Amino acid sequence: MFKNKVVLVTGSSRGIGKATALLFAKKEAKLVVNYSSSEKEACAVVNEIKNLGSEAITIKCDVSNESEVKKMVQKTIDKFGKIDILVNNAGIVFDVPFFERTVEQWKKTLDVNLLGTFLCSKYVSKQMLKTGGGKIINISSTNGIDCFSPEAIDYDTSKAGIIIMTRDLAKELAPTIQVNSIAPGWVDTKMNKDLPKDFIKKETENIYLKRFAKPEEIANAVLFLASDAASYITGSILKVDGGYG
Ligand SMILES: NC(=O)c1ccc[n+]([C@@H]2O[C@H](COP(=O)([O-])OP(=O)(O)OC[C@H]3O[C@@H](n4cnc5c(N)ncnc54)[C@H](OP(=O)(O)O)[C@@H]3O)[C@@H](O)[C@H]2O)c1
Repeated sequence: MFKNKVVLVTGSSRGIGKATALLFAKKEAKLVVNYSSSEKEACAVVNEIKNLGSEAITIKCDVSNESEVKKMVQKTIDKFGKIDILVNNAGIVFDVPFFERTVEQWKKTLDVNLLGTFLCSKYVSKQMLKTGGGKIINISSTNGIDCFSPEAIDYDTSKAGIIIMTRDLAKELAPTIQVNSIAPGWVDTKMNKDLPKDFIKKETENIYLKRFAKPEEIANAVLFLASDAASYITGSILKVDGGYG
């Protein structure tokens, strides 16, 4: 189903983005592995993809920088001629107590998570409309729905924004492009590496399935939304959180 499809996954040098890129590669898609600073890790992902027999390139691009996003999209078109699937996955979080949160931290989080999703969607969808369609999957979070962390107030705000943006984009780009979002709960990635052990234990007790997700379990949901099996789904938010509360 994905043979020769061109898939751009932002922030795919590690974590959920890497698992997603590798899963699409296993299905014979061509991949763009985007990163902003982790060049070595991104190149390692491309090597893994090539070992699977698929094509891939790395593109360094800060998704919050408009001119870099334009260049990333152009480089992808120059190399592969089209973009079929965009996964807006790049994201950052800084855990900082509410009263210590600075304007700079707030802006950085909103720039990468929210502006980045907007910019990549804008410039990629322009190309998708020219080539007859595509799928956009935005990685939000249950933090944007019903799982709140005041020490990541900017992150939660950005993820709620991605959910509303998904609905706006689905309306704007229909019927040619389908736009959906995955809202993961806790996932075992580097993003959570500094969480205190007792906090992880407490949160794990709140998860019905009693464990954090593996990145591959989020990738499976992305693949579903990008597949023909999701042909009548657009503007939807799919929680993948193992049940929580
Ligand atoms: N882990 C969780 O529990 C969880 C839960 C819900 C939602 N999510 C969301 O899932 C997504 C992936 O999270 P993760 O846990 O896999 O995080 P991660 O392991 O920290 O990976 C983040 C990825 O984003 C890239 N990135 C960061 N800033 C970027 C920028 N400005 N431009 C381009 N790429 C950038 C990083 O590459 P560089 O190092 O090169 O910048 C890296 O590849 C995020 O949107 C996150 O908010 C995660």
